Amino acid sequence: MATLASDAASDPATARPMTDNQSHRPFLDLPPLASASGTVRLPGSKSISNRVLLLAGLAAGTTAVHDLLDSDDTRVMLDALRALGCTLQQDGGVLHVTGLGGQLKVHEANLFLGNAGTAMRPLTAALAVLAATQGGQFRLAGVPRMHERPIGDLVDALRPLGCGIDDLGQPGFPPLRLHGQAGGVLALGQPIRVRGDVSSQFLTALLLALPLVAQSQDVVIAVEGELISKPYIEITLNLLVRFGIEVRRDGWSRFTIPAGSRYRSPGSMHVEGDASSASYFIALGAIAADGGAPVRIEGVGLDSIQGDIRFVEAAQAMGAQVRGGSGWLSVHRGLWPLKAITLDCNHIPDAAMTLAAMALYADGTTRLTNIASWRVKETDRIAAMAAELRRVGAGVDEGPDFIAITPPAPEAWRAASIRTYDDHRMAMCLSLAAFNPARVPVRILEPHCVAKTFPDYFDALFGVAQARADDVPVITVDGPTASGKGTLAAELAQALGYHLLDSGALYRATGLAVLDDGIDPADEAAVAQVAGLLDLRFDGGHCWLRGRDVTDALRTEAAGMMASRVSALPAVRQALHGLQLAFRRAPGLVADGRDMGTVVFPDAPLKVYLTASATQRAERRHKQLISKGISSNIDALRADLEARDLRDSSRTVAPLKPAEDAQQLDNSALTVDQSVAQVLDWWAERRPFGG
Ligand code: DC
Repeated sequence: MATLASDAASDPATARPMTDNQSHRPFLDLPPLASASGTVRLPGSKSISNRVLLLAGLAAGTTAVHDLLDSDDTRVMLDALRALGCTLQQDGGVLHVTGLGGQLKVHEANLFLGNAGTAMRPLTAALAVLAATQGGQFRLAGVPRMHERPIGDLVDALRPLGCGIDDLGQPGFPPLRLHGQAGGVLALGQPIRVRGDVSSQFLTALLLALPLVAQSQDVVIAVEGELISKPYIEITLNLLVRFGIEVRRDGWSRFTIPAGSRYRSPGSMHVEGDASSASYFIALGAIAADGGAPVRIEGVGLDSIQGDIRFVEAAQAMGAQVRGGSGWLSVHRGLWPLKAITLDCNHIPDAAMTLAAMALYADGTTRLTNIASWRVKETDRIAAMAAELRRVGAGVDEGPDFIAITPPAPEAWRAASIRTYDDHRMAMCLSLAAFNPARVPVRILEPHCVAKTFPDYFDALFGVAQARADDVPVITVDGPTASGKGTLAAELAQALGYHLLDSGALYRATGLAVLDDGIDPADEAAVAQVAGLLDLRFDGGHCWLRGRDVTDALRTEAAGMMASRVSALPAVRQALHGLQLAFRRAPGLVADGRDMGTVVFPDAPLKVYLTASATQRAERRHKQLISKGISSNIDALRADLEARDLRDSSRTVAPLKPAEDAQQLDNSALTVDQSVAQVLDWWAERRPFGG
């Protein structure tokens, strides 16, 4: 009976965090986190990525873009460029973009730009001037929130030039239709006026678009009102230089694009790590790197061209100890509690949100001012931040352009379900609440919103943040052979974003190593030594033993037989104990195997003992074997299972028995989905989160 030893239809044990960004799980629970240390490599900057993509798409020649951010916002820009006829070729980690050389190839397109302001605003300006001079018709739209984000000031700057722009929805907001006739001439003799006090992206959009039509005369842009978020304009100017355009600027109110401007590819561009994304890890170091080792951040450094690098100064003002160089930062906790500050945050609008999260750990009220632009971002960030910080217990005061945060008293922290408003920064900022002194967990709703700029954020967080083992939740799934516990455990881990331990795989790997080494399986000391030194690695659904991929070998009859023998040796069980405990890492663990609830994780808050009738299990195993092309006899299978149940439950070492506090689940008449739903209901009852 070839596979009777195998109970898991799914992958073997995996150390792969289950926080993969593909799955849109409704929530991710963060256990209380205690400390942080180690290295994080940042994804590319969103602001630089989307500007570089557009510039490369408009320029003549091919640009090799290195370290491009792969996220929702860059994906919509790439889709747009492709629709416009740019050639994109991925070569390992490098994207080769062959641009239009300023000449439209495609004169009609429908572009969907998600919620990416860095795509919507510059593409509107560029396609408006191209359509007005070369002829064309383009429709630009996004998600519903994109249609609530203002673009009227940019449209008002472009229309007087002769650009045809129709509002397809509410005036002043996307969606828009841009249109014009070939041979059209733009009125560029007068300075082009644009407001600078709502979003700096309007000025950026004009700066990126107008070099396309500045062949025969200087083009002047005059900014009205105080320009906000100046550092983003510096990024734009910096990158324009790389693509051959030297904009002259008088203060922050007048910008001149010289006559004869023409985009030329620099050949190759490197995208820096995202300085706004760095802010979460700078904060992490300031809050939690209080042991020996710092949090080290790679990909962005003190020489960054991104304005949000000045978050470092703000974090230092709150007490962080930061060192850095070119392309790296290293952060320790300095003052503790952090020092409350009052700060004009106009220069770091995005990273300033991270200060609001750091304020939870300050010695008084932190006041962030001049942040009116928060109200027109992915969501109304002042309102959202106020609501969610209150939810964890903070005192918050808010106004049109400021927020003031008073940390919760130690006993006032609450286990909160954090709304994220489809705003990546809300999810990342509020994850920092997991370091609360009350040791309450934090639930992040709709955590996949981080994919806008940092798809692997939670993996990166758990890579450097440590929880106390007893704060990490464990669900154990024990039960007789062929009860479906492997499948149930894998589904639960996937649903909750937890790690998965298939403890049977450890015994199987020990069995394989014993076979490899030609060791006598009855030699308890020798087998235990092998188990204790097991060089085992789990990686992306694969299992590596001593550098060899043993994913398939683990499921063989030989490995199963040997596992059954070696698992009866107490010294072997002891030797594997520590290895199993090591799987208990943030955000949580689902552990399957016969003694998970009784011996290895006796304090697990939920223990499931899965059963099914022998008839039912025999039928399932029969179907499984048929699907693999192996013939079997269902009565013989059932007899085998019954004999094995008896052996397993009567053996002296690690007998199969439910933990006293286990929830029994007979899944004879249940589908996998029904079993998963039942266990998730039990889990929800044990979690401290309110509505
Ligand atoms: O679940 P499995 O078939 O992969 O398990 C392989 C062997 O290891 C099986 O004989 C049961 C045994 N085992 C054990 O003794 N204790 C565990 N925690 C898991 C498996």
